[in-house]
Amino acid sequence: MPIPELLTTLGGETITNTGDWEAYRRPEIMHLLAENIYGHRPAAAEKNLNTTWNVLLYHENYKGKPVRYQKVNITAGGYTFLCRGFFPMTEAPVPTFVYIMHEYQENKYNFETSLDCLNVPILDIVSRGYGVAIMPTSGLYPDGDHKADYKAGVFAYFQPDRSLRRDNDWATISAWSWGASRVLDWLTECPWADEKNVAVLGHSRGGKTALWAGATDQRFALTISNASGCSGAMLHRGRTEGGETVEVITKVFDWFCGNYRKFANREEMLPCDQHMLVAAMAPRLCYVASCSEDAWASPAAERESCRLAKDAYELYGKTGVVLPAEGEVEADTNYHEGNIGYHVKTGAHGILPEDWTRYMDFWDAKRG
Ligand code: GCU
Repeated sequence: MPIPELLTTLGGETITNTGDWEAYRRPEIMHLLAENIYGHRPAAAEKNLNTTWNVLLYHENYKGKPVRYQKVNITAGGYTFLCRGFFPMTEAPVPTFVYIMHEYQENKYNFETSLDCLNVPILDIVSRGYGVAIMPTSGLYPDGDHKADYKAGVFAYFQPDRSLRRDNDWATISAWSWGASRVLDWLTECPWADEKNVAVLGHSRGGKTALWAGATDQRFALTISNASGCSGAMLHRGRTEGGETVEVITKVFDWFCGNYRKFANREEMLPCDQHMLVAAMAPRLCYVASCSEDAWASPAAERESCRLAKDAYELYGKTGVVLPAEGEVEADTNYHEGNIGYHVKTGAHGILPEDWTRYMDFWDAKRG
């Protein structure tokens, strides 16, 4: 099967307007992505969640800097996990990032002793008038050795009988993205966050999670994927750079629903591809970033998804990504003209302050 046409339904109809996109094709795409890659969430995790939060710590001028710090326990549907918010010391609500912090990063930083965090430059973010809520993924489901027995976290809580798990049930990426939505529930009531301007952002496995969060929760105004690679922004089909495959990722990481591994070495049989995930953000803002020495995440295939996703934006009369032809894309250059932003940073797989600078430049320019 070639790359599925974004604007052609499974029944062969061509979508030409936003009404049909929203009524038919977008729901079909969301179903295909859930069914084959990320899994469906159980009803118990979707309904009557009545999200509340409990403030564990509150500091103004935290560590002598102009930062308001609030550490909260968020409870949704009875399940509780931790999050930390950092905001400027102003009273007006500010646009705020939800940062999905995976365990490699979580274990590197101690926000109780220092604000220094290479992956999330809190002082730069706050000084530019943005807030950031950092969500450690271990509170939703631990990554550990990347193998999931579903005996802990949200799985044990919402689906205690593991014998009922099916091949299209949610898995780790979906659990983490569920958490990002619950952080957004908190931010919609938090006095320092502008609820209309909340972005979701993650790096690598966090980038895959951010994309699924932005697709499943249309309250996110901006979705940012930093080096998300395979099962993130990277197109499965037609790759020339090598990079990670369904076979490898499903062998090593239990992040996806059981159905995904059925496409190992049969990617062309997938009824969806990752341009559909990027397109699910339309007409909202999206940003995809790659790293030049990161062939594992296939930067060219990340760009190709963005290019193909533009058809959905065009239905809304908006521009998708504006990129030169492949081969002419320059490193360390902002491609910020359209509603899907892009840059490729020189260097290895990682998220650094310079990436955040580009994300904030884009959001400064595009925010309504
Ligand atoms: C591995 C994995 C990638 C993932 C990355 C990460 O390299 O193969 O798919 O993005 O870990 O999350 O750091």
